[in-house]
Amino acid sequence: MNWLRQKPSPSPVPKPASVTLLPAVDEVAPVTEAAEMDATAGLRTTAAGQLSDPEGSGPAMTGPVTVKSPRDDLVIWAASLDRQSDPRLIAIKRELHQQVISTLDISGVGKWSPEQLRLEVRRQTEVICRERKDLLSTAEREQIIDDVMDETFGLGPLEALRRDPNVTDILVNGPKTVYAERNGRLIRTPIKFQDEKHLLQIVQRIANEVGRRIDETSPMLDARLADGSRLNAVIAPLALDGALISIRRFGSVPLTIDRLLKNQSMTREMVDFLDICVKARMNMIVSGGTGSGKTTLLNCLTGFIPEDERVATIEDAAELRLQQPHVVRMETRPANIEGKGEITTRDLVRNALRMRPDRIIIGECRGAEALDMLQAMNTGHDGSLTTIHANSTRDAVSRLEMLVGMAGFDLPIWIIRKQIASAVQIVLQVSRLMGGVRRVTKISEITGMEGDVVSMQDLFEFKQTGIDENGVAKGYFAATGVRPFYSDRIETSGFSLPGELFEKRVLLRCEGRLTP
Ligand SMILES: Nc1ncnc2c1ncn2[C@@H]1O[C@H](COP(=O)(O)OP(=O)(O)OP(=O)(O)O)[C@@H](O)[C@H]1O
Ligand SMILES: [Mg+2]
Repeated sequence: MNWLRQKPSPSPVPKPASVTLLPAVDEVAPVTEAAEMDATAGLRTTAAGQLSDPEGSGPAMTGPVTVKSPRDDLVIWAASLDRQSDPRLIAIKRELHQQVISTLDISGVGKWSPEQLRLEVRRQTEVICRERKDLLSTAEREQIIDDVMDETFGLGPLEALRRDPNVTDILVNGPKTVYAERNGRLIRTPIKFQDEKHLLQIVQRIANEVGRRIDETSPMLDARLADGSRLNAVIAPLALDGALISIRRFGSVPLTIDRLLKNQSMTREMVDFLDICVKARMNMIVSGGTGSGKTTLLNCLTGFIPEDERVATIEDAAELRLQQPHVVRMETRPANIEGKGEITTRDLVRNALRMRPDRIIIGECRGAEALDMLQAMNTGHDGSLTTIHANSTRDAVSRLEMLVGMAGFDLPIWIIRKQIASAVQIVLQVSRLMGGVRRVTKISEITGMEGDVVSMQDLFEFKQTGIDENGVAKGYFAATGVRPFYSDRIETSGFSLPGELFEKRVLLRCEGRLTP
């Protein structure tokens, strides 16, 4: 067993930059789990519940803490996107784009391969560009050609964000407001669409490409893009101030356990314990808020599943990337235009039970499928994993109760709790802390029932002690001193759990942000 002790490496403090830019959200107030962004309104509640306006002229409210973070790289990066907000260039790009589309030989389009089509569009754009007197330099012309290609085949002005591997979230609140999360920090970018029509065109094209539709009668879209990113779009009449797009990007290389160790998302001791839990076929739930890293951790946990097991995965939008050879992947399907043909997670869980899986992995439990999942866990599919949206490991159990209630059976609460207590053994909490760092903040066990209450105990935890000078949460990981309730079961499965692993002590002190 690897008993690696990591020393927190000091995070360098860059010098302040002189570039001026739109106020970034982090400057106004730090993000905590309880202070999540309301992207729709562009407003955000702080930990104390006040509203801050990222468009406003500064920190108008008296927040609990006002942090000035050194964000040189973020500010310089955002400034590099400034070109995307130049109205002259936006107008030229659109005009060229329309011209290129109208001059393309439509009869040829159907016959061309995607590569030929790209070449043809590039050629046409070059021809049209050469005739324009208002494009000053060759460099500007080259850039415009690239932009027209993005406009024709990609996400238009958002392509600049999509190309950056450090951007994890792209949030569009209408044509003139685009936010991005880069290295865990949310910032408003200068990127703009020409108008609402332009933004809608991009949304429609994405929908067409993934074989879905989005219009007034069906104004919401959930889709997975070709690069694996997850996209959600809402347009009028549901979106009041212009189309809303939320894109969750996953790097080309998913985060691994090693990366999570390096960036102090958890400690080696915790990883060793989780590794054994997965191999010993414990049923586990990853709990956390929006964007806290639930799917990422779930994906990492699947890495511990032995290769000879048959794993069935069920997701709304396939995000998991299991490395095992024997994986069957399923994705839910929304209803068609007539409101028919919907296949829910619940349908897929039931179907998966007939597919002889050794384990079932559900991307996220958010409805009645919770009951089917508990039943699967209780009937021989040990080692199943899922995620749930909750603020603490105890809260996760209450949420599970509520979801089981949605299955429509009038089950007494004590029956539901008994089911949960016998089905689930381990609950992990992941949190997005101040400054955007993600950490596994608790590893708890469900130990059974006391009366009609589900009893739990905590084995490992992260205690936040404050924030560092960069506005990043600092604190320490600790073992609580409790030996696992399931020690015997784990040891019977052939794994040894050294007692020292759980001795009460500080495991790792975290002073702030490390590599993302
Ligand atoms: N431990 C981590 N360290 C650094 N970045 C992380 C970590 N975990 C997740 N991330 C990044 O945070 C973003 C959100 O992660 P993820 O999709 O796993 O969260 P989630 O809780 O499943 O979100 P949602 O609620 O939207 O489903 C991703 O871009 C991911 O790369
Ligand atoms: Mg997720």
